[in-house]
Amino acid sequence: MNILVTGGAGFIGSHTVVALANAGFNPIIVDDFSNSEPTVLAGLKNILGYEVPCHIFDCNNYPGMLQILRDEKISGVIHFAAFKAVGESMQEPLAYYRNNLGSLLTLLDAMLAEGISNFIFSSSCTVYGEPDTSPVTEKAPVKPATSVYGQTKQMGEEILRNVAAAKPLKIVALRYFNPIGAHPSALIGELPRGVPSNLVPFVTQAAAGLRDALTIFGDDYPTSDGTCVRDYIHVMDLAEAHVAALRHSIKIVESNFFDTFNLGSGKGNTVLELVRTFEKISGHPLPYHIGARRKGDVIAVWADVQKSYDLLGWHTKRSLEEALEDAWRWQQRLGDR
Ligand code: WQD
Repeated sequence: MNILVTGGAGFIGSHTVVALANAGFNPIIVDDFSNSEPTVLAGLKNILGYEVPCHIFDCNNYPGMLQILRDEKISGVIHFAAFKAVGESMQEPLAYYRNNLGSLLTLLDAMLAEGISNFIFSSSCTVYGEPDTSPVTEKAPVKPATSVYGQTKQMGEEILRNVAAAKPLKIVALRYFNPIGAHPSALIGELPRGVPSNLVPFVTQAAAGLRDALTIFGDDYPTSDGTCVRDYIHVMDLAEAHVAALRHSIKIVESNFFDTFNLGSGKGNTVLELVRTFEKISGHPLPYHIGARRKGDVIAVWADVQKSYDLLGWHTKRSLEEALEDAWRWQQRLGDR
């Protein structure tokens, strides 16, 4: 089956392309390289042993999308293409609404025009805001978004829920927790632009001497060691969950379907626990200091993953240590690029 992977040259998209091919699907990439690099295609070729077809274009292009869905005989779509920087989304809300929601609407129109119904949507645990308790289940209330980025994920899910109720679509929305790590070959991985806002790429760059000390944003939270708690999930586990979700969508017999799934490890780790684990796997101390809290940070959130296990037959197989080892190996291979 030919599967369109929008944003397929991105961090999670490229790892999902590997998981799809490993599972016997034919992934086809659409990416405008606004937040990814063409070098990813070479990495994928080295891993998979063949050139993954890639169309360079913007998902807001309706006639172009129609053409690709038709020419490539697409049977399902996994939609990653979106802007995802929380801070930037507050400076450029219009760009985020237009890109993240506009491309979603364009894609849905094109799929319906071509009679394609299997659709996997990249959502985020950010929809939960600060959950009342953790682990958080899919039944937890969606809280008012604390960023435009988070709002586009919430609005995306609501759009999909309502469109799937009215039109023949089988939609699975995947709520990612904190994706980290890289493919064990170190041929693909995370390529943050500029100073990383996410914890793990900053840690590996600091360990590689590319950054000064890590600033830990606050150690006065009501947690075991005062630092925030997150659910860190290996990007390859996350990629394999997309294959499980696609198979679930294909199996659905109803013509109108929408459901959400948490994709996490089911465990919470504090920032300091992650730093200690990184020091252990890398074999050297990580320079850090405690700074002020970061606005908008959630104190603690980690996933209840029972539903994904029961209905998708999926759970994480890789540990935090393994994810940090793979992230570190990727950073060392990057050098000072
Ligand atoms: C994790 C923890 C920080 C950097 C965001 C988005 C989410 C998803 C993943 C896109 C927090 C602390 C971080 C640093 C630090 N994005 N930290 N020093 O904020 O949980 O999630 O990225 O899909 O939607 O909300 O991830 O990696 O930024 O932060 O102390 O230099 O690390 O305070 O506690 P976050 P993160």
